[in-house]
Amino acid sequence: MKFLIINGPNLNMLGIREPDIYGTQNFRALQRYIYDCCLDEGIEPVLFQSNHEGAIVDRIQAAYRDADGIIINPAAYTHTSVAILDALKAVAIPAVEVHLSEVSARESFRQISYPGMACIRTYAGMGFEGYRQAILFLKEWLQNKQPPI
Ligand code: DQA
Repeated sequence: MKFLIINGPNLNMLGIREPDIYGTQNFRALQRYIYDCCLDEGIEPVLFQSNHEGAIVDRIQAAYRDADGIIINPAAYTHTSVAILDALKAVAIPAVEVHLSEVSARESFRQISYPGMACIRTYAGMGFEGYRQAILFLKEWLQNKQPPI
C-alpha cells in the first residue's frame, strides 16, 4: 500500500513558525515521524511538501493510478483552494485531511476547508499524532473496502 503525504505552505517552517500554535518540533522531525508511522504499518510513504498551489495540484495528478491513499495538510490553501479540491476529486484517491492545530477554534477565515470536501475524514488539533491517526484510519478504510476473496 502506497500513501502520498502532502504538506502545504509554511509547514517547512515548523519549529520556527508560531511555536505556541504549531509546537517546537521542526519539519524534519515531522517528516521522520510520518515516515516511521508508515513503515510501522507496512505502508510505503511518499512525502511531498510545497509552498505552491500548482505544485500541489501537479503532485496530486501525478499520484493517479500510483498512490493508494493521500494524506494532506493543505495548510493555508485549506481555506482558499478549489484547485486542490478539484484535483483530489479528479484522481478520486481516498484522502484524509490533517491539521496540526484545532482550526475550528481559530479565526473565522479558517472555518472553511475546500480540500476537506473531498476527504473522507479530518484530524485536527492533535499535533503530529493527527498524521498517525490519519495513516491508521486510511489503512483500515482501504483494507475494509476491498471485496472479500
Ligand atoms: C494548518 C492550519 C491552517 O489554518 C494554517 O494556515 C496552516 C497550518 C494546521 O496544520 O494547523 O498553515 O493547516
